[in-house]
Amino acid sequence: MARKRASVAIFLFTFLQVATFCNSVPLSTNSRWIIDQETGKRVKLTCANWVSHLQPMVAEGLEKKPLSYIAKKVPETGFNCVRFTWPTFMFTRPDYYNLTVSESLDKYNLTAAKSGIAENNPGFLSMKVAEVHMAVVNELGKNKVMVVLDNHVSQPGWCCGDNDGNGFFGDANFDPAEWLQGLTAVARAYKGNSAVVGMSMRNELRGPRQNTDDWYKYMQQGAKAIHKENPDFLVIVSGLYYDTNLGFLKEKPLPLQKNLDNKLVYEAHWYTFGTGADKWDAQTNNLCAAVTKIARDNYIFLTTGENPFPLFLSEFGIDQRGTNEAENRYISCLLAVVAEIDIDWALWTFQGSYILREGTLNLEEVYGVMDLNWDGPRNPQYLDRLQILRQKNQELESKNPNYYIMFHPQSGKCAHIYKYGDIILATCETATRWEQHQDGGPIKLAGGSSRCLTVAGDGGAASVSGDCSSKWKIVSSSGLHLAAQDGKGKYLCLEMNATDNFTIVTKKCLCVGDDLRDFPTCSDNPQGQWFKLVPANVD
Ligand SMILES: *[C@@H]1O[C@H](CO)[C@@H](O)[C@H](O)[C@H]1NC(C)=O
Ligand SMILES: *[C@@H]1O[C@H](CO)[C@@H](O)[C@H](O)[C@H]1NC(C)=O
Ligand SMILES: *[C@@H]1O[C@H](CO)[C@@H](O)[C@H](O)[C@H]1NC(C)=O
Ligand SMILES: *[C@@H]1O[C@H](CO)[C@@H](O)[C@H](O)[C@H]1NC(C)=O
Repeated sequence: MARKRASVAIFLFTFLQVATFCNSVPLSTNSRWIIDQETGKRVKLTCANWVSHLQPMVAEGLEKKPLSYIAKKVPETGFNCVRFTWPTFMFTRPDYYNLTVSESLDKYNLTAAKSGIAENNPGFLSMKVAEVHMAVVNELGKNKVMVVLDNHVSQPGWCCGDNDGNGFFGDANFDPAEWLQGLTAVARAYKGNSAVVGMSMRNELRGPRQNTDDWYKYMQQGAKAIHKENPDFLVIVSGLYYDTNLGFLKEKPLPLQKNLDNKLVYEAHWYTFGTGADKWDAQTNNLCAAVTKIARDNYIFLTTGENPFPLFLSEFGIDQRGTNEAENRYISCLLAVVAEIDIDWALWTFQGSYILREGTLNLEEVYGVMDLNWDGPRNPQYLDRLQILRQKNQELESKNPNYYIMFHPQSGKCAHIYKYGDIILATCETATRWEQHQDGGPIKLAGGSSRCLTVAGDGGAASVSGDCSSKWKIVSSSGLHLAAQDGKGKYLCLEMNATDNFTIVTKKCLCVGDDLRDFPTCSDNPQGQWFKLVPANVD
């Protein structure tokens, strides 16, 4: 499938010359962190996905709102970055890249989208699809939003199935040579474009052909192709089984010279597909423990050990209507883990709708930040819950010793000292700092204070006082309950006061016995008692 590359490079190049902006410098890696290459300071990618890889090859939403409006909404809703998708054919095959937006929409009779784009983004219909891709990137750049370009599929269309021809090297639509050609074309097209900080090599490898031998072979080739063409970009490498598994790297690292000159980042996806509400309802603590262990074994381990790497959790998300109870519990569990390890991430997803997805016109995306009409966020409360993920808890250059903040994932808030020493939940940006906690020891305020977290009776308010006799144990397999004994020797757990969702009380531990062992199944919902001591060192 030899394809001409020259023509695509030429028209993209002319377009590039009119783009002027300057907001981000090249990023690089230092140990497990992504850093600004010039200052060495940590840069945390807090992204949302935004797709442009479906059949029309047009960024979703341009038929609903002006690009300038959408691009502003990205930082307004709390993201500093977009993982922006592209299909290989859009950069390798003239019968795709030669299409204007108008022609591409006509191919699928998308008349409503066409008039929507004419109204909201009038210049775009006559532009080629790849030019509009670049216009979107440039507009994001103007809004100081960083962009990771993600090769999502080969043939434009919804992703992903085991046998959709786009899953693994050698599948019907996945010729390795064409893929390399596409990576090179995109790395070249976006050369010098300071909005773009990196490229994701391939979304969700999968299917019957997947195997580690080919993975090592082609991931090296892809990484080298991008790096050669554009040495400024981070190169982001994804795993097998829909990007849920990089565990094989424990045995055999990817042999890339000096971690590709400190540009190598790994990515993974974490959803709860296939684990239903019945399981989560019966075993919330145990299941959280189990899925956390899987995540640690399959990819989180990459951030630890002698040669650690940055890890980009490039997809996770839930139905934001809140009606999927499995997802409601999974996301609390995930937030606790991701807050603790303080990695880079991209939420699935920004778009509130699709022009055409799997045969349906104007399909709503209930995982999307934006609502169906792209007027604003569909669930601002959910976005608030991501605060601890947005902030940097760890800085490389900090001279501060570690302290901890106490995170409550169900609310997305952190513990603060309030009036009379009561403890309440409020924003994690200014959370109360606690000293290093030894399991089974007191939880002391940081900064040389002699005050400690004190257990109250069943249903009483937790407080901070000079009484340091409460010894706090991390209980339950989830590691997410903090319990101390009351005056009668009975263990009580911290819990968000369900009446006001504000104060923190101490109550009988849920799904955990008096002997502190997990119940094998349990009909209570323990999420109100989940707290995580998150390490931090920012000044
Ligand atoms: C692509 O477009 C260019 C310029 O519009 C044209 O010269 C070329 O023949 C087209 N190629 C194909 C394969 O359509
Ligand atoms: C588009 O409409 C034309 C004429 O009605 C029809 O022949 C064609 O099959 C349609 N194409 C698609 C992709 O629906
Ligand atoms: C729980 O919240 C309610 C409503 O604000 C309040 O009246 C009650 O005192 C709180 N419980 C504790 C132990 O603080
Ligand atoms: C308290 O939080 C629960 C669970 O997050 C929620 O269902 C409820 O509406 C909240 N109540 C108040 C008073 O905010």
